[in-house]
Amino acid sequence: MEKSLLLLVLLSLLGFALAHTNGFGEQPLSKIAIHRTTLALNNNASVIVSPSLVGLKGEDTEWVTVDLVSPNPSSDDWIGVFSPAKFNSSTCPPENDPKEQTPYICSSPIKYMFANHESNSQYASTGKASLRFQLINQRADFSFALFSGGLANPKLVAVSNFISFDNPKAPLYPRLAQGKSWNEAERDGSNEYSNYQPGSLNTTDQLVNDLNDIDIVFHIGDITYANGYISQWDQFTSQVEPIASKVPYMIASGNHERDWPNTGSFYDKTDSGGECGVLAETMFYVPAENRAKFWYSTSYGMFHFCIADTEHDWREGTEQYKFIEHCLASVDRQKQPWLIFAAHRVLGYSSDYYYGLEGAFEEPMGRESLQKLWQKYKVDLAFYGHVHNYERSCPIYQNQCVKSERSHYSGPVDGTIHVVVGGGGSHLSTFSGVTPRWSLYRDYDYGFVKLTAFNHSSLLFEYKKSSDGKVYDSFTIAREYKDVLACVHDSCAPTTLAS
Ligand SMILES: [Fe+2]
Repeated sequence: MEKSLLLLVLLSLLGFALAHTNGFGEQPLSKIAIHRTTLALNNNASVIVSPSLVGLKGEDTEWVTVDLVSPNPSSDDWIGVFSPAKFNSSTCPPENDPKEQTPYICSSPIKYMFANHESNSQYASTGKASLRFQLINQRADFSFALFSGGLANPKLVAVSNFISFDNPKAPLYPRLAQGKSWNEAERDGSNEYSNYQPGSLNTTDQLVNDLNDIDIVFHIGDITYANGYISQWDQFTSQVEPIASKVPYMIASGNHERDWPNTGSFYDKTDSGGECGVLAETMFYVPAENRAKFWYSTSYGMFHFCIADTEHDWREGTEQYKFIEHCLASVDRQKQPWLIFAAHRVLGYSSDYYYGLEGAFEEPMGRESLQKLWQKYKVDLAFYGHVHNYERSCPIYQNQCVKSERSHYSGPVDGTIHVVVGGGGSHLSTFSGVTPRWSLYRDYDYGFVKLTAFNHSSLLFEYKKSSDGKVYDSFTIAREYKDVLACVHDSCAPTTLAS
């Protein structure tokens, strides 16, 4: 069988600590109190955007220049970008909500920039600025508006001419997935590139550079951190388009896709900003029996994957536990010797600072019911995100390292190697001051993991930094089918003395 390559990457876009302390409030667009906007239109103020028609050669990303003049400039003046261009109440009448004031604004800006940005530091004295914005084709026109009063008390001063793409309905951002050929994308709203994802573009670029050697990508939850600001999904699909249009781009569900109180998520938190998984399951395809429950299995080459959904209960007796056992039990290890488990939250092992505080170095209730399944079915590797750093364990069972080697593993599969690879993009998570004995390699940096199966008995694992694409941690596994069959610990069914 030819060489099979797999890449697994987690592009979490926000910090674990932030996510757990501030919920969805950290989305940058949420700083704009757009519902409090008041009118301060001024005939002597102007916002002129050029060119007004973009994408004349079929481009789906274009730069525009925004020239603005204000007779009463202030250092907290800002420009908001709206799409569709008409954002006043003519397109969305107020709903008698006391929060809504005149001028009722239909939607949040898709991005914003302060008027004194970079080379416009004199704006507050001159009242003149020239800003550059990048627009992606999102199937609607755009307008730019000048606000005074900062983000907290916006006052609408002037609105620009309307800008549009020459062919706004052009097919955009194809996304491939296992089990589906998906060649068109539905677009809705627009997006801001957020400063909360400093490593994300580096990670994306490294994957694009290596794309000829990548067959499939797994991105295990907390995909965009849109948190209800739907345009962020457009930005993300545009960002990963070079990857997702070439190889299957498989996702899982994280807290920032799913969690919302009283909606059936295992965690009663507001981390999804009300998305409740709807955006994730609409924008990306996964071969789940019921995509509202995001667990699924899929095979690729010599790999078999069991992808869990940590935002639904996984413990023994649940529907998901049955699925996980069936997924692990049903793989034919002669055909797919490499068995991979993945989930967003760390159900296995992590010495993240917060998991350390809780004492067990895992998501609460994480591995108690699952570890006997990993052992019984001899899972080679288990991957997690949620914690934004990199950490690799020894082959482990019941908190004990079962092998002492660090870089070359062979023989019976008597433990699973657990890997946190959550440093794809967002603010990094600090480690606990305690380094457990099972923790073989920790890296407080952005990165991703690549797996390469050379054949049925030889696997290469590589951890690469997003900054330079170089390998910083690696190991190999060499073993035969008889090693998979070998009884270890609790892995084999009872035998009989009958002859
Ligand atoms: Fe998360």
